[in-house]
Amino acid sequence: MIRANDNYQKLQASYLFSDIAQRVALFQKNNPDTRIIRLGIGDVTRGLPPAVIKAFHEGVDEMADDATFRGYGPEQGYAFLREKIAAHDYQARGADISADEIFVSDGAKCDTGNFQELFAKDIKIAIPDPVYPVYLDTNVMAGRTGVFENGRYQNIVYMDCLRKNDFLPEMPKEPVDLIYLCFPNNPTGTCATKSELAAWVDYARQNQALILFDAAYEAFIRDDSLPKTIYEIDGAHEVAVEFRSFSKTAGFTGTRCGFTVVPKTCSVFTGEGEKISVHALWNRRQSTKFNGVSYPVQKAAEAVYSREGQAQVKELVSSYLQNADIICRTVEDLGYDYAGGKNSPYIWVDGQGRDSWEFFDLLLNQASVVCTPGGGFGRCGNAYIRISAFNSRKNVELAMKSIKEALK
Ligand code: MLT
Repeated sequence: MIRANDNYQKLQASYLFSDIAQRVALFQKNNPDTRIIRLGIGDVTRGLPPAVIKAFHEGVDEMADDATFRGYGPEQGYAFLREKIAAHDYQARGADISADEIFVSDGAKCDTGNFQELFAKDIKIAIPDPVYPVYLDTNVMAGRTGVFENGRYQNIVYMDCLRKNDFLPEMPKEPVDLIYLCFPNNPTGTCATKSELAAWVDYARQNQALILFDAAYEAFIRDDSLPKTIYEIDGAHEVAVEFRSFSKTAGFTGTRCGFTVVPKTCSVFTGEGEKISVHALWNRRQSTKFNGVSYPVQKAAEAVYSREGQAQVKELVSSYLQNADIICRTVEDLGYDYAGGKNSPYIWVDGQGRDSWEFFDLLLNQASVVCTPGGGFGRCGNAYIRISAFNSRKNVELAMKSIKEALK
């Protein structure tokens, strides 16, 4: 008899964003004439930048000609892209990361989900609450948790992110082996300073732990004093793996490309305490289970680093940041407490006593605006909603006008 992976039975009925999509589809079916504005899932709405599209087309044309055609590429990504990433995103910021420590992939969601495969089943994991659900759900699938009770899985060390600690994760009181961090944060939109990140790096070094650092939203950081990569912190290359994405930076949500940085100096340990290279493990995993990102997509991603590409992605991100500013001002005018929206595309809004799904339903029914209920990101999000700045200026303005009317 073919048996199911019992761990899947512990998961919540469906993935957060699928759940929301179903509710919105039902609302649209019942209200066919209502125009809904989506500020829920963080999906970009603007076209790919011209420099990216040009390189994408050229890559496709090369595939049509026997002389320039490419078959299987390197599982780790083409050198032309890995070298640009290492030079622009790391070496230019004084972070000592080399091209062969970059693993190009089809996005940060897959990599943050897959990375836990490298670790033992009985490690202690620390996860922020609220959190991007992928980190938690993939550990549930792998059998690292007990059952879900009172809004939490057993065997997970939850790090509460609340107003009283500026929505920054509390350091675990007990030793943990694996720590998930995300800055600028999804969903709260908060950022960590260099000294806050340095405290995490110290913790990981003292506890022989590893940090999985999700920096998918780094392009939104406009405050020069904030770290854009964890490798700006001394010692981080021994204890941190970093995930990046072209999705929000350059509009690649539908094109799919990201990368993971695994420094050769990062180690995990055998039961006997012998060091093993995380880089070697991830390389083994990727070369077995992954066949690389398509050549035209990697050419398109490379164009992000050209002079025109850099200017165009900067403008793209700025337009979403301006939307975020409009959302922040509306929320402020309405007298709601919020976090994020600066150096981040997400605004985390306190529901003034409402449950997050109740607030979600109110905005959908009264303002025809889709947000994300904070409870979907964890128990600490139950009193919040997340509003995303990813939409056109016109739609954000219309959405804010309807929200103002619905909440006044
Ligand atoms: C989100 O809305 O949290 C993100 O779009 C999800 C993702 O990037 O997978």
